[in-house]
Amino acid sequence: MKKVQLTETVLRDANQSLMATRLPYADYEDILADMDKAGYYSIECWGGATFDSCLRYLNEDPWERLRGLKKNLPNTRLQMLLRGQNLLGYKHYHDDVVEKFIELSIKNGIDVIRIFDALNDFRNIETALNATKKYANAKTIASGCISYTQSPVHTVDKYIEMCKELKKMGFDTICLKDMAGTMSPYEAEHLIKGIKDAIGDMTLILHTHCTTGMAYMTITKAIESGIDVIDTACSAFSGGTSQPSTETMFYALQQYGIDCGLNEDIINKVNDYFKPIKQKYIDNGQLNPKSLATDAQALVYKVPGGMLSNMIANLTDMHAMDKFDAALAEIPKVRADLGYPPLVTPLSQMVGNQAVTNVLVGERYKNISKEVKNYIKGEYGIAPAPIDPELSKKVLGDDKPVDCRVEDKKRTGEDFAAAKEALGDLCRCEEDVMSYICYPDQTLKFLRDRKAQEENEAVYTIEEM
Ligand code: CO
Repeated sequence: MKKVQLTETVLRDANQSLMATRLPYADYEDILADMDKAGYYSIECWGGATFDSCLRYLNEDPWERLRGLKKNLPNTRLQMLLRGQNLLGYKHYHDDVVEKFIELSIKNGIDVIRIFDALNDFRNIETALNATKKYANAKTIASGCISYTQSPVHTVDKYIEMCKELKKMGFDTICLKDMAGTMSPYEAEHLIKGIKDAIGDMTLILHTHCTTGMAYMTITKAIESGIDVIDTACSAFSGGTSQPSTETMFYALQQYGIDCGLNEDIINKVNDYFKPIKQKYIDNGQLNPKSLATDAQALVYKVPGGMLSNMIANLTDMHAMDKFDAALAEIPKVRADLGYPPLVTPLSQMVGNQAVTNVLVGERYKNISKEVKNYIKGEYGIAPAPIDPELSKKVLGDDKPVDCRVEDKKRTGEDFAAAKEALGDLCRCEEDVMSYICYPDQTLKFLRDRKAQEENEAVYTIEEM
């Protein structure tokens, strides 16, 4: 019997896409023991925006969260999403930092590392792959991930070439990441059949979003075309900008006579657990019902779920929601100017913010963000297509673009030393240093609060005695 397995995303991508990653660990700790028995291929639970959100909004140590997940999910593969050389941040880190981050991620409990580069410039995922192999244990899986998008330069043949390259590089599995949910059933069929022919029995994974309403059809075609693993979220956190529903796919696969290895009672129990949690965040406004809707316009704008909900949040903060439609319409134009980068972190934020700036300022590229300038300079890698010459000239002047890998390869150890020194007695472990390197301001605040809280508790304990 053909097997198709499911990765449950409620703890990472579904949470990130629907409610800007504001789900605290305490909300779901009690269901983890059940989730561990569900029979998922893996649980996506860390990486992406969870790290930033823990430190910035939730007053949680992301490493402690990971250890909690590991403790309560000992039998399930824990999966993270990693932005290649950007780790979980928005800029390139030196190779020694990338290696250390992966060493610590595996040490603290991560099993599957899904590694992508926003531009599909695979030079930017090589260090992360090699580090994953270096620190791997028996459970570790290095998953090479392609940022899927449509543009005049993104053809089926090009994607097949990319998959062959990932296989050659030594990845264990390959994932097609359709972050905007714009892959059509027709495209899925052609892509997946073509890729399967090219990579043989290597595991192929499809990650998509319901944003445009296409996902269920696309997944169905993907299953018929030989996909091995699909990403889904328990139905309470499915749909809209999130993934298709786990339970729905379970029942559909049953009809196909395909075994997905899930325990029906448990996946229903998991979903029942998350229903009131979802309601809580709808009631307090953190889950905007707008992100639960189907928006076929995304087929035009190619905007991923997380980006859409962030843009809504930012514009609401600036009392500029009346500019939403104009900003959305500006996105594909900025994207074409920048050589059709796939809209995935950090490029989705860069393109999104630039589009918002262009609209709010009222003149295109009057203000260009530092990140977009760096992108045009070549610091993120090679763009899929040439950047608009006028825009390029505006940023580069007479300079030539740089090779991003030259800087990355520096292994001075200075980043660690400097971070450790900056933290002083706030630092207890290498994980603290790594958090600081990724998010200095948030980590400093978090560690100061932690220290203050512990001192208060110490005083309290003495008084009690
Ligand atoms: Co996603």
